[in-house]
Amino acid sequence: MRSDEAIPEGPPMLDGRRVFRIHWVLGTDRLRAVCHCGSERVFEDPIELWEWLLGHPADHDGGGAEGTPAAAPREPALVSAGDREESAEMVTEPHTEHELDLVVEKKESMAEGVVQLTLRSPDGAELPAWEPGAHIDLVLDDELTRQYSLCGDPAERSVLQIAVLREPDGRGGSAHVHDLLHVGDTVRVRGPRNHFPLRPASRYVFIAGGIGITPILPMIEQVEAAGAEWTLAYGGRTRGSMAFRDRLQRAYPSKVVIHPADETGLLDLAEILADPGASAEDALVYCCGPEPLLLAVEAQCAAAWPHGALNIERFAPRAGATDGPREAFEVELTRSGLTLPVPAERSVLEVVEEAGVQVLTSCQEGTCGTCETAVLDGVPDHRDSVLTDDEQAANDTMMICVSRSCSARLVLDL
Ligand code: FES
Repeated sequence: MRSDEAIPEGPPMLDGRRVFRIHWVLGTDRLRAVCHCGSERVFEDPIELWEWLLGHPADHDGGGAEGTPAAAPREPALVSAGDREESAEMVTEPHTEHELDLVVEKKESMAEGVVQLTLRSPDGAELPAWEPGAHIDLVLDDELTRQYSLCGDPAERSVLQIAVLREPDGRGGSAHVHDLLHVGDTVRVRGPRNHFPLRPASRYVFIAGGIGITPILPMIEQVEAAGAEWTLAYGGRTRGSMAFRDRLQRAYPSKVVIHPADETGLLDLAEILADPGASAEDALVYCCGPEPLLLAVEAQCAAAWPHGALNIERFAPRAGATDGPREAFEVELTRSGLTLPVPAERSVLEVVEEAGVQVLTSCQEGTCGTCETAVLDGVPDHRDSVLTDDEQAANDTMMICVSRSCSARLVLDL
């Protein structure tokens, strides 16, 4: 299929939701479809894409889950022909997110300083569907909302599971979970949402550091079930600090290599990443862990791996991401009909909220993706740690909690 051929008209709405973005994979004849949940697929055959569009939302529409869908940023339905200038019709649809009060059914110690929470609806209702890589917000109190990757089985719709590392130097979220959240307590949950989706490939190199193993667990189960080739290099301070280590080693002894730093030192990334694939569809790298590991993996992949092969998830801002000069600029909010000045010392989020425009937010540090907002005109100054380099370069969305503007005015879909 070529870029000048017609793309069949997409399903306008399915159960109130839609697959909201379809675009060409640059330099190829493939199409990438990205669903409202953040999961995505790459297709060579438009008929297969069409079938996925029809079937995908019904598979994970969150139907049956109790809770109050909260207003969230509206996402652009974008059909583009390879670059920003050729973007076609911009269609917007409401994007909703579940907000649930769940009960802590189990709280289990999984390793030194790591507890796993199993969360269930008080009435046993089915919970929202999710895919590997997804995370949820735990709303711990009015001032404390934290993001945790889902580490259970996506097919098990009655519970959500997360694992939380106590961080002595953290900002209070993990201490709250460890010390104040008990079995039988109710906790508010938002999401799931997914900015770390598992993309199709024939081979995967998984690299996890410490509690960064959590989003990798369901990915491994999925690629194993799909018959793809994969390996996991799992590093930690000590064996005793590495959650799910026994389970992984027992289930996949030939594919999982454990690297306790006190025994074997740091992960040997040059060896782990010695075999780059021929393309990003041939082999992908997925990495989650502490910032020094992420930076080292980024450097290694930049030197030797195909562009787009590396997939990373951060739960803290990339070093220096929010630095840089802060200039004043203006935002035009097309839905609200407002034009507002953004002073140098304030964020877009602060300004629009003060003007009474509701935006869903969570981390407010550019890592969770909750405040992602479509950019209709102007050039954002991206300072988030969520979007990939390509997504930032596209300039069609921005995280308004931290990102600013390179142009005198930004036009936002708010
Ligand atoms: S609120 Fe988390 S990225 Fe903006």
